[in-house]
Amino acid sequence: MDPLIKIRNLKKYYSQDHKIVKAIDDISFDIYPGETLGLVGESGCGKSTVARCLLGLSSLTSGTIEFEGKSITHLKGKELKKFRRQAGMIFQDPYASLNPRMAAGDIIAEPLEIHKLLKGEAKQNRIEELIHLVGLPKGSVSRYPHEFSGGQKQRIGIARALSMHPRFIICDEPISALDVSVQAQIINLLKKLQKEIGLTYLFIAHDLRIVKYLSTRVAVMYLGQIMEISSSEALYKTPLHPYTQALLSAIPIPDPAIERNRKRIILRGEVPSPLNPPKGCPFVTRCPHATPTCHYVRPQLKEINPGHFAACHLLKGIEPTPLVQIQSTATEKL
Ligand SMILES: Nc1ncnc2c1ncn2[C@@H]1O[C@H](COP(=O)(O)OP(=O)(O)O)[C@@H](O)[C@H]1O
Ligand SMILES: [Mg+2]
Repeated sequence: MDPLIKIRNLKKYYSQDHKIVKAIDDISFDIYPGETLGLVGESGCGKSTVARCLLGLSSLTSGTIEFEGKSITHLKGKELKKFRRQAGMIFQDPYASLNPRMAAGDIIAEPLEIHKLLKGEAKQNRIEELIHLVGLPKGSVSRYPHEFSGGQKQRIGIARALSMHPRFIICDEPISALDVSVQAQIINLLKKLQKEIGLTYLFIAHDLRIVKYLSTRVAVMYLGQIMEISSSEALYKTPLHPYTQALLSAIPIPDPAIERNRKRIILRGEVPSPLNPPKGCPFVTRCPHATPTCHYVRPQLKEINPGHFAACHLLKGIEPTPLVQIQSTATEKL
């Protein structure tokens, strides 16, 4: 199957106080039609930057992005507007992302206004249809954001993202700001919509727990790079990267007998600053298995098992570079 989205060697650097922030540092991955790709990583690792680059809201430092086989890397003006109709975004904080002075109907219809797609009765009908689709109560059209609960606000955000019949939706931590009791409802709604409309999702979260029940595949990010990507099943059953293993070990297991014997891998130290990332593997400062090689050579993402990629020198299938050579090149750079 051809990918819907193809990202190759994407870099996004920001300059801050005369220094370079490597928010995304050379990542490549595909998103297939109809799947949910979970993108997971700690706060600040570059997830939202990936989302902004994908929607053309942020320019790229380098690399390419294709949508349905066509490059969207340098789209501008009309072409960019046309592409944006096919891609929607659901934001993390429904409290902050809805304009408090606009009625729900107008918020949902705003993209239709901007793109001048529907008018009059056709527009009103589309708004009613969307309100029904996302499970908002009748009469929601003329109500204002403060009259809705957190979960309902997020439903307004979802209706708005769907208004132009997009094929692809980015959900950027869409349930992080919601009560636990409401989180499952929103996840179920997103699942239902995917099935009914045939949507493709990039689902961003900071926790592997959240993406488990939704994702077809999962990508794990750390400090602007992808550490591991595979089918959801393989990632949770046989995580390969020490970082993924640590993240998974922190998740409680519902079975008390297994839970009692669960071994937690405690990660020491903080995530290094993207202003001054490690020279070799980004995870080297916290990895319990780091070798000298890991300090100097950045591991590439390699297919360890079919469809299961990881970036770690310790995994089989990766030819280790002779240490002597590494140390001499490293010294030259220092
Ligand atoms: N406009 C910007 N200028 C400078 N640095 C930025 C900007 N936007 C994001 N960053 C930095 O890029 C990194 C990744 O940010 P972000 O993509 O928001 O992470 P995440 O969504 O994973 O929490 C962070 O270190 C953040 O401070
Ligand atoms: Mg973010």
